[in-house]
Amino acid sequence: MADSNPPEAGSAARSPGISWSELMAIDSRPAPACLTSDHYTYLGSDPLPAERYTSEAFAQAEREKMWPYVWQFAAREEDLPDEGDYVVYENAGRSYLISRQADGSVRAHHNVCLHRGRKLRTQDGAADKFTCPFHGFTWNKDGSFDSMPCAWDFGHLPKERLHLPEAEVGRWGGYIFLREEPGGPSLEDFLAPLPEHFKRWRHEECTTVIWVAKEVPANWKVTAEAFMEAWHTVVTHPQLLPFSGDCNSAYSNWGDNVNANLVPFGILSPHIDAEGRTQQWIVDEFVKYNGRSGDNYEASDNPFAVTVPEGKTARETLGAAMRAAYAAQTGYDHDDATDAELLDALVYNVFPNFAPWGGFMPNIVYRWRPGKTADTCLMEVRILARGKQGEPLARGVPLHMLGPDELWTAAPELGILGDVFEQDMANLPFVQEGLHCSKNGRVELANYQEIRVRQFHQTLDKYLNGEAGKQG
Ligand code: FES
Ligand SMILES: [Fe+2]
Repeated sequence: MADSNPPEAGSAARSPGISWSELMAIDSRPAPACLTSDHYTYLGSDPLPAERYTSEAFAQAEREKMWPYVWQFAAREEDLPDEGDYVVYENAGRSYLISRQADGSVRAHHNVCLHRGRKLRTQDGAADKFTCPFHGFTWNKDGSFDSMPCAWDFGHLPKERLHLPEAEVGRWGGYIFLREEPGGPSLEDFLAPLPEHFKRWRHEECTTVIWVAKEVPANWKVTAEAFMEAWHTVVTHPQLLPFSGDCNSAYSNWGDNVNANLVPFGILSPHIDAEGRTQQWIVDEFVKYNGRSGDNYEASDNPFAVTVPEGKTARETLGAAMRAAYAAQTGYDHDDATDAELLDALVYNVFPNFAPWGGFMPNIVYRWRPGKTADTCLMEVRILARGKQGEPLARGVPLHMLGPDELWTAAPELGILGDVFEQDMANLPFVQEGLHCSKNGRVELANYQEIRVRQFHQTLDKYLNGEAGKQG
C-alpha cells in the first residue's frame, strides 16, 4: 500500500512474495507471540554522515560518552563456572577482571594495579588473590586490598584507598554484563523486550561450544551492521538463496536498545526463478550448504538430508527433522517448537554490540568491540549449544583467536559458517576504505531492511548528545 506521507514515502513497502506473518500462519506449530509479525517503527530516511565510521574524534566521543554508560556483554557464566575463576574483559580503553566469588556471585573490578598501573592479569585463569607481577601489591578476589611488600614505605596509603574500582554487574540468561558508571536503567529494562522473547529459548541452559574471534580492518559499527540485515545475501552469499527467504525477512525495532531480523529458511528466495524448483531441491541445497568438507562428512550422516513427502513443504520437513534431532541431542521435548524456532535465523541485537540468535537450534552470539583506531574492531562469534537435560553444563570452550593473516575458514569448528563470514569479510575493509574516500560523505539506508542500523545510530546519538548516559 502506498504511503501518502511524503517524508515516509516507501517506508511501508515490502518485498514481493510471502510475508513473514503469512509464513508464521502456515508453520507447523503455533508461533509464539514474539514471532507472529514484525514490530517495525519508521525512524526517518536521512543519510548518515560517513565520518561516524572513520573519525577518531567520533570514536573518542563513543569511548567517553557511550561505552561507560551502557550494559556491555562481558562474559558468559560458563566462562567462569567455579569459585576463583576469572575472565579478563577489555573494551573501549578499559580492562576488567570479572571473577566468581565464594557465594557464586560475580564481580567486575578494574584490572589495573593501584601502585604504578600494571595490568594485574592479561589472561583468563583462576585465583583467590591477584598479585601484581611488578612489585607484588596483592588484592583479594572481592577487590579488597590484601598486602604489599615493603609496607613500611606506604604509610600514606591506607587499605581503604586501595580497594579496586568496581563496575556494576548484571546477569541474565547465562550472560554476564557490566556497566562502568553506576546509574541508569536496570539490566532488565535495558534489555527489554529481549528477556521476554528468550523465555522460551532459555539460553541459561546453553554453553559455549565454539568461540572464534578476529581483528577486522573496519570500524566496529561497519562490521556489526554487516550482520544486521539479510538482504546482502543476494550478492554476497548467493549460495544461500535456494533455501533462504532473504528479502522476506521481518525487521523489528523496540525502543532504543533492541531489534531483530527474522530470516526464514527452507523457502526459495524471491530472487530465484521458481520455475522447475521442487521442495526437494530446496532441501538438497540446504543439505549441501550444511555439509562440511574435510572432516569425513557423509551426506547420509546428516539428519537434515530428508525426503520431502508428497504434499509437504521443504520448510516443514526440515523443521520436523530438526525437532527430532535437537530433542534426541538434548533430551528436551521440542514438540511445541515451531519451524521458525528450529530452522530460521532469529537474529536479535542489543545496543551497542551484542547479538544473540533466538530459537532452539545451537545459537550464534556475536559481539563487536572497537579497536585502537576507528578503522579496526574485534569480531567474536560464539555458538551456544543446549546441554543435556538434567546434566550439569559443561565449562565453555576457550577463545580461538585467529591471527591477522588467518581466514575464518582456518577455524574448522565453524564449519560452513567460516565460508559465509569470509564472504562478509571480503566487503568490510573496502567499506572502511570507501567511507574514507567518499565524495559526498553520506551513507544511505533502506527504510525497512536497514531499520536496525538507523535505530542504533539514533540511540548512539542520544548518548553523544547527553540525552542518555551522563546527564548535564
Ligand atoms: S605496579 Fe603493581 S605492584 Fe607495582
Ligand atoms: Fe553476511
